Amino acid sequence: MNRSQINSIIRDGEMFALEHGFKLPPFAFWTPEDWASKGSECREIAQNGLGWDVTDFGLSDYANKGVLLFTVRNGKLENLKTGKGKIYCEKILICKPNQLVLHHYHKSKTEDIINRGGGTLEIVLHWANKQNQFTDQSITVSCDGTQRTVEAGGVVLLAPGESITLEPYMYHQFRALGSAVLAGEVSTVNDDANDNFFLEAVGRFPTIVEDEMPYRLLMTEYGTFYKP
Ligand SMILES: [Fe+2]
Repeated sequence: MNRSQINSIIRDGEMFALEHGFKLPPFAFWTPEDWASKGSECREIAQNGLGWDVTDFGLSDYANKGVLLFTVRNGKLENLKTGKGKIYCEKILICKPNQLVLHHYHKSKTEDIINRGGGTLEIVLHWANKQNQFTDQSITVSCDGTQRTVEAGGVVLLAPGESITLEPYMYHQFRALGSAVLAGEVSTVNDDANDNFFLEAVGRFPTIVEDEMPYRLLMTEYGTFYKP
């Protein structure tokens, strides 16, 4: 992706979050120059992978396959192992109409995906087998404390306010229908480097062509400017 495209996606995302009443934390608005002036007191942001995250899954087709994410809070794997401290994660995802978040599942993370406003969020569900393929088993999910069962490949539609709990090995693909959706994600600790299993061989983070200066740093980029 070009840096200019990432900059414009984040600018739009900031506006979209504001329009939907989701106030981002202060570090969402720090520039690369701000990061260069920060000390060790901000280490948690960098170490726990908080902040902006744009992906096109390495397919260079962001309008159809991609998503903008912002990790608001996240713990470490040690927290999960010991059951102490931040054993949780919270993100927002901004899904443009018809833009797919491709089929993937997690082996560790259980996540709630919440439609916090905008259009309808469509979730397609399958169970994963040991070979990372779909099974033909039906899926029972919890949606806002109410169990629902769908066939393999079945669809759950979430209107604003509704949510779904996705358990480990539950493949999910989602997209916004009608208009863009501000989705929330509340989960156990998130490990993007090791706990995303996609149906197809795609990338998780974009390759960036630097055609202008970064407007905001992505959560994978702090080390370039931030040297506490
Ligand atoms: Fe997921």
